[in-house]
Amino acid sequence: MEEGRVFPKGFLWGAATAAHQVEGDNRASDWWAAEEAGLLPHRSGDACRHRELYERDFDLARSFGHNAHRLSLEWSRLEPEPGRFEDRWFDHYARVLDALRLRGLEPVVTLQHFTLPRWLASRGGWLARDAVERFADYAGEVARRLGRAVRWWITVNEPSVLAKQGYVTGEWPPFRRGRWDLASRVIARMAAAHRIAHARLHAALPAPMVSFAHSTPWIEPCDPSRRLDRLAARLRRAFLVDLSFALVRRGGRPLIDYVAINYYTRTVVRWAPRGKALLFGVECREPHHGGPRRFDDLGQEVWPEALLHVLRDAARFALPVLITENGIATSDERLREEHLRGHLAALARAIEEGVDLRGYLYWSLMDNFEWAEGTTVRFGLAETDFATQERRPRRTMRLLAEVARTGRLPSETLPVEV
Ligand code: BGC
Repeated sequence: MEEGRVFPKGFLWGAATAAHQVEGDNRASDWWAAEEAGLLPHRSGDACRHRELYERDFDLARSFGHNAHRLSLEWSRLEPEPGRFEDRWFDHYARVLDALRLRGLEPVVTLQHFTLPRWLASRGGWLARDAVERFADYAGEVARRLGRAVRWWITVNEPSVLAKQGYVTGEWPPFRRGRWDLASRVIARMAAAHRIAHARLHAALPAPMVSFAHSTPWIEPCDPSRRLDRLAARLRRAFLVDLSFALVRRGGRPLIDYVAINYYTRTVVRWAPRGKALLFGVECREPHHGGPRRFDDLGQEVWPEALLHVLRDAARFALPVLITENGIATSDERLREEHLRGHLAALARAIEEGVDLRGYLYWSLMDNFEWAEGTTVRFGLAETDFATQERRPRRTMRLLAEVARTGRLPSETLPVEV
C-alpha cells in the first residue's frame, strides 16, 4: 500500500438512507398510517422528496467522492397488497439502481428498514403467523426483478431496535410497552426472515453478500466492581446485541456473508430494578467514565473508541465487515467533524489490527425524517432545507470526501489508543 494510505483502494465510501426517511409520500406503510392517526408526534409528508430527486442526490454523493450508497426498498410500495407486486415501483427502483451504477456508486440494498406494509401490520406485523413467508416471497421477487444490479444486501435493519422501540418503550408502531416477551419474538421472527431471505438471494444470484444490519451499541457497567451493574450491562447486551447474532445462526455460525455494523454510541448502565429501567438498568450520564463526556442531540454519547471494541468483537466471525451506519444528531458542525475524525481513527486502528473492513457508510447523506423526532434532529452530511428541498453540503462532507480521495486520515487526527 502506498505510503501514508490507511484505507485500501476499493474501500467503499458513502452514506446510508432509508426509504421512509427520505422518499416521502410513503402511504401504504404502517408508519404513514400511525402518523395519520396522530399516534406519532411528526408526519413524514414529503420527507426529502428523494423519490423524485434521487438523481440530484446521487450527483451530490458522487461529487463528494462517494463510491457506494446504502438505500432501502419500500416493501409497502413493492407489495401494496399481499401477493400483488407493483410493476411501477419495481421500475422505479430499477431506475434508482441504474442511476447509482451510472455514477459509480455501489448499491447496498436493504429490504426492510423499520416500515412494514399496512396489510401486514394490521395482521400483527412481524408477529403475524405468515410474516416470515411473506418476507421470503418479497425477497425472492426483489432478487428476481432487481437482483442482478446488486451485490451487497441487507435483509432487515436492526431487529433489536425495532423490537425495543415497538414493544418495550412503545414509542414506535405498534406502540406496545414493556412486552419483552413479544420483543424477543419479533427478533426471532426477523432473524428467521433474514435466514430465509439469505437462502432466496443465494438461490437467485451468483455471489451475493447478504447480511442484516445490526445495531451494536457498546454497553458498559457504571461501576464495574458492582455485581448488579455488571448484570444490568450483561442483560442489556444479551438482548440488544447478542440475541440477534445468536438467532441468525445455522450450524453454529451466523448465516451472514459479512458483518453489517450500525454503530452510534456507548451506553453506561447502572442497576435499577424499578421505574424507567430498561432490563433492570438505567443509563448513567455522569462525567466519571474516562473523562469529559459528550452527548448528541438525541442524548447518545459520542465515544469513538467503542467503535474499535465493536470491530474487534465483530472480528470473531472471521468475515468481512462493513460499517452500514455511523453518524451523529447535532447542529454543531465542529462536533460533527470531531465525531467523524474520531471514528475514522478507530477504523484505521481496526484495519491495522487486521479487521477485514470493507467500507464506511455514513448516516446520513442529508438531514431527513428521523422517526419519532421528525426533522428536529440533523444527521446529514448535507443540510436539507425542507421548504425548498435544497441540499447544502456541510464541512464534514468535505472532510469525508478528502479521506475518500486520499485514503489517509485527515492530518490533525490523533490515533486512537485503546
Ligand atoms: C436507524 C436509522 C436512524 C439512525 C439514527 C438507526 O438506528 O437505522 O433509521 O435514522 O439510527 O437514529
